[in-house]
Amino acid sequence: MKKALLADLTSENVIDRIEALFEVIMTSSYLGEPVTIGEHMLQAAACARRDGAGEALVAAALLHDVGYYVDACSPTTKTSWSPSKRHDRAGARALAPFFPRGV
Ligand SMILES: [Fe+2]
Repeated sequence: MKKALLADLTSENVIDRIEALFEVIMTSSYLGEPVTIGEHMLQAAACARRDGAGEALVAAALLHDVGYYVDACSPTTKTSWSPSKRHDRAGARALAPFFPRGV
């Protein structure tokens, strides 16, 4: 299901898909961590805003882990939650056509 949320993105559906993803990841447990991955992403954006970052960086902080929900990057165990999964690049590839380069 996570994969389908960010599959076949278009300029018409990208925001709706991101909203739908956040609805899932705000309530899904995150490998036993005290916050969900959605809460973690919101925390990153809040920290960026608090520290005076511009809109692009705040958006980038908010979206920084969406790559885990693209292709086969979605974690299933703590050991699968690894930078080697290249979630940063997967997320950038998925969203680049729809956001300014700064994001
Ligand atoms: Fe993160």
